[in-house]
Amino acid sequence: MSNPPLVPPLKCQGIKTKLVGEIGRVAQTPGFKRWVEPFCGSCVVALNVQPKNALLSDSNVHIIKLYQEIQSGELTATLAKSFLEEEGNKLRTEGEPYYYAVRERFNACPTSLDFLFLNRSCFNGVMRFNRSGKFNVPYGHKPQRFAQAYVTKITNQIRRISEVISSCDWTFVASDFRQTLASVKSGDLIYADPPYAGRHVDYFNSWSETDEIELSSLLKRLPCDFILSTWHSNEFRKNDLIEQNWNEARFHVLLREHFYHVGSSEDLRHPMIEALITSFSVQASRPDAEKMEQLAFFEMPLAAI
Ligand SMILES: C[S@@+](CC[C@H](N)C(=O)[O-])C[C@H]1O[C@@H](n2cnc3c(N)ncnc32)[C@H](O)[C@@H]1O
Repeated sequence: MSNPPLVPPLKCQGIKTKLVGEIGRVAQTPGFKRWVEPFCGSCVVALNVQPKNALLSDSNVHIIKLYQEIQSGELTATLAKSFLEEEGNKLRTEGEPYYYAVRERFNACPTSLDFLFLNRSCFNGVMRFNRSGKFNVPYGHKPQRFAQAYVTKITNQIRRISEVISSCDWTFVASDFRQTLASVKSGDLIYADPPYAGRHVDYFNSWSETDEIELSSLLKRLPCDFILSTWHSNEFRKNDLIEQNWNEARFHVLLREHFYHVGSSEDLRHPMIEALITSFSVQASRPDAEKMEQLAFFEMPLAAI
């Protein structure tokens, strides 16, 4: 694990940058031969846990393509630097119309470099696609977005993660979680971080209660251990699905407060109690409630939640 955490070049909703240390620590308990992430998103968790072998999968083909290209050397830090400098200059002089021209170009013929450009210059750094699979996030209104320091930051992120990827045996696959979970075997450890039910309605991120129930029933039947990330509660509501799906003594619930910074709605920006459901017991003690956000996940019996 690197400290501070290694940050990937892509931003997405629900990115677990602040939780990677804890997830990595929890993952040490069962040990594993292969790390499997059916909802890898930005890949920040794998990039920090740095398992030797991994299957990293997501239904978002654009994310997977970008990582495959970094892995194959097709997309390098040098290439990204000259692309972002050139496109950044056009954004600086032409402003908003240029952002929308790139968005149109990407939606007609998607490339990883345009995806990176849009992801880093769109409104709030969110990743959203409409029902036809077209990227639809509006302009972030920062014509100076790709200033030299920012381009250097992004290209350093690409350089660093390509070093990690090339030192490991990782496979990136665009697929639905059902297919990914069908391929797991004993000795794997699954880290599942699905979208939060009912929160997103976009093409890659829609997630219904039926998906959630199907995921829990697949996880319960796995031939290996798993860690499931979900939300427990915020100041407005509580996730009743935890009790509904995980109320068995063989599962463990760990809780921790987490504040999301990426998100367009007020709901997504409030502090949230995160939960990890594990198929194994983890040594953890309950912290002082006031200091909870600085502390590790702690185990909570379901009856007490
Ligand atoms: C909460 S995000 C994962 C965030 C990731 N752990 C990170 O830290 O960046 C959920 C991910 O699930 C993916 N997803 C949504 N529905 C899916 C499905 N049916 N099968 C596989 N992936 C799916 C989305 O594309 C999104 O990247």
